[in-house]
Amino acid sequence: MLSTRDMENKIIKVSRSATLPNMDDLHGKRIVLGLTGGIACFKAAELCRSLVKAGAKVQVVMTDAAAQFITPVTMQALSGQPVYTSQWDAREGNNMAHINLSREADAILIAPASADFMAKLIHGKADELLSLMCLARPLQNVPLILAPAMNREMWAHPATQRNVAQLKADGSHVLDVGQGDQACGETGDGRMLEAHEILEDLLSFWTPKVFQGQHVLITAGPTFEAIDPVRGITNLSSGKMGFAIARAAHQAGAKVTLVAGPVSLPTPRGVHRVNVRSALQMNDAVQAIVHQASVFIAAAAVADWRPASAADQKIKKIGSGDSPNLSFVENPDILATVAASPRAQKGDLFCVGFAAESHNLLAHATAKRARKGVPLLVGNIGPSTFGQDDNALLLVDANGAHDIPRNTKTKLAQDLVQDIAKRLGKLILP
Ligand code: C5P
Repeated sequence: MLSTRDMENKIIKVSRSATLPNMDDLHGKRIVLGLTGGIACFKAAELCRSLVKAGAKVQVVMTDAAAQFITPVTMQALSGQPVYTSQWDAREGNNMAHINLSREADAILIAPASADFMAKLIHGKADELLSLMCLARPLQNVPLILAPAMNREMWAHPATQRNVAQLKADGSHVLDVGQGDQACGETGDGRMLEAHEILEDLLSFWTPKVFQGQHVLITAGPTFEAIDPVRGITNLSSGKMGFAIARAAHQAGAKVTLVAGPVSLPTPRGVHRVNVRSALQMNDAVQAIVHQASVFIAAAAVADWRPASAADQKIKKIGSGDSPNLSFVENPDILATVAASPRAQKGDLFCVGFAAESHNLLAHATAKRARKGVPLLVGNIGPSTFGQDDNALLLVDANGAHDIPRNTKTKLAQDLVQDIAKRLGKLILP
């Protein structure tokens, strides 16, 4: 039998993978990964590995400066492809690596992109293979994505900022830089994003923006209702489904606010997270923001009741057989309240509820949809999904129900976002 600690460890271990990319998210994508000179080249190794793991075919091209920081041998081993470093590489039949490699790519990703390399790009310089390839790429078909990396003074310099603006104006996609400690010992803006952040940004780049202009407010995870300062009542919700929806909504172009109960999941990239503990706090956080939202998705497993009063000191065990008398009061129904609000009733706020049931899913979900007054209710079988990375959904609306078959929560969240986006076009009210 598992101890509580084992169970917690298990839940936390599984939880960490909640909103990771699917193994096949980049399946079939051919990416030229260009490395230019900078200490952040060490992160390109991890990035290459992540891209390959996500299903991409990665062709590495390195400048001479990049090869001072990391060897082509390492990058070849990680990408599984010979690395190109020179425009005079005789391996290509026509000796035109810059044409061949750029025509075969779905994107060129330069990571790290040095200040010097960006300066070259804006002038259309082409004196080595990588810049030559960027210039020779078919502009309409092969996006150029840059992950800058440099010292904070170099990043802040007006010349660099001017070059970044020019690169964007020329149609390149320049990723943000990270903030924090730099290899030179200074602290500030200019670090290259971490590999997982670049991967997330790349996935977002390729996600259709079906939620553009939407502000999606999501509740996720359990709530914790205090009995005293050390004890409370909670449930087994892992928060994974709600976090996956937050990630998918952001990738689809929405501004996303995630009101999260106590879970240890990492915040999806680009998502604004508000941490709460109790149902009352969750309700307050939702009410504070819901007037700005256009979609409200209640995925949290909110406790139905809370102890009528939480003791401010630990309740002591006086003697055996002596148990405290707890009385409960009902928590506000956040979803039903929001769904009854004038904006939701007018159709300015699309509300989605969840129902975790153990049996008779269709009947219970249909009844719950009516009770909560929402246009869409997503049913699932709680015991077969709590803490898991996969799930199966039943979408119930005014016209009936349809299944989204078992899949990873990451994929189900993407499907749900697509489904909601279609409904937003038509606005089906309860
Ligand atoms: O009533 P029940 O908890 O089964 O309903 C589930 C749905 O209602 C979920 O969408 C959940 O997030 C939401 N809910 C809520 N506030 C509550 C109870 C549930 O928002 N107090």
